[in-house]
Amino acid sequence: MNILAIETSCDDTGIAVLQVSSSSSFKVLANVVSSQPIHQNYGGVFPMMAKREHQANLVPVLARALKLAKLANPKSQILNPKQIQTLKEILEKESKLFEFTKDFLETYEKPNIDYIAVTHGPGLEPCLWVGINFARALSYIWDIPLIPINHIEGHILVNFMKHETHNMKQVFPAMALVVSGGHTQLILMKKIGKYEIIGETRDDAAGECFDKCANMLGLGYPGGPIISKIADNYKLKPRSYNLVLPRPMIHSKDYDFSFSGLKTSVLYKIRDTDPKIVKSKKFISEMTTAIQDAIVDVLVKKTINAAKAYKVKTIILGGGVSANQELRKQFKLQASSFKLQAPDPKLSTDNGLMIAVAGYFNRNKKATWKNLVAEANLRVGQSRHARKTLQKH
Ligand code: KG4
Ligand code: ZN
Repeated sequence: MNILAIETSCDDTGIAVLQVSSSSSFKVLANVVSSQPIHQNYGGVFPMMAKREHQANLVPVLARALKLAKLANPKSQILNPKQIQTLKEILEKESKLFEFTKDFLETYEKPNIDYIAVTHGPGLEPCLWVGINFARALSYIWDIPLIPINHIEGHILVNFMKHETHNMKQVFPAMALVVSGGHTQLILMKKIGKYEIIGETRDDAAGECFDKCANMLGLGYPGGPIISKIADNYKLKPRSYNLVLPRPMIHSKDYDFSFSGLKTSVLYKIRDTDPKIVKSKKFISEMTTAIQDAIVDVLVKKTINAAKAYKVKTIILGGGVSANQELRKQFKLQASSFKLQAPDPKLSTDNGLMIAVAGYFNRNKKATWKNLVAEANLRVGQSRHARKTLQKH
């Protein structure tokens, strides 16, 4: 079975092809990610700009992925007027992509693909739609079923690349910490497909905090990898500035997070320091170290508290911030009584493969090109807050 997967929920255009053998083991045939450097100039992602970039990237990324998977067979063919009309309707709001897609479909024959998995939420709505409509167009012309995927579940399930060798009884229950640019959630996982959000950020996500702090320091976007690179090189060096930052909600009894106060503290420290010093290598090194330490401390402490309270066997990490080496190191040091699962750092950030893996585990939840929609605020499982609200009514 071959699964083609499409990810466009934020600013990475990702397409992967995953081959699943009869023994259910996975072979990655392709995992192509095209990032969008344009956002570096703005210190954050503008949804309409990201949508435009996805429109330009999707067809070349698909062509590359199919070539790598050896599934791209050139064969010139003409789409009939009805097909062209329907394709136009599907890609009505992505006119540029319509032209590229039509050309592609008239150049290559239907590949050996059984399912098309696509992220349908959560994420930036215009970005989600461009990926969904592209998937719908391919599904319509090639007559291949779609599998709608929750992006957060993708970040979790990419940890199950070698699932056929896992003894699932020894993995679950598990506590997943999903930390990305848009989310910071603690998710209790009884098994694959059974999730409960037990805590989440009340304001900024951890990745967003990295990004905003990096922006304030003039370091560029995305901030997480830049901050961690500087901080990791500086960790053990002596300090000149008193840059102790708060660890918001670290002692609260619940499992929620808050990172906007940390960002504000960084802003005040910058404001209250001589601008010449703020630009100095030493200040930036000490500040990035302080930011990373504060974020890592909160994430590790609250995750371990939750893991103990819910008596889980495993802590699972996912999302862009889980690429952070200091975070991984602290989990290894402090959470040694739990099994720890974290993806290859390259698979922590957004990519198509995580959607393909989630597609395999959700292969029974098929959708058609006629009924798939974006859900920008989609959640895994059911949240504690939502359950309380439901009970009230
Ligand atoms: O999961 P992801 O690729 O996209 C979203 O779903 O948001 O996560 C992107 C986030 C960005 O905020 C980025 O700064 C952060 O992950 N990030 C990191 C690192 N690599 C990426 N944060 C800390 N340390 C890293 N090494
Ligand atoms: Zn993500």
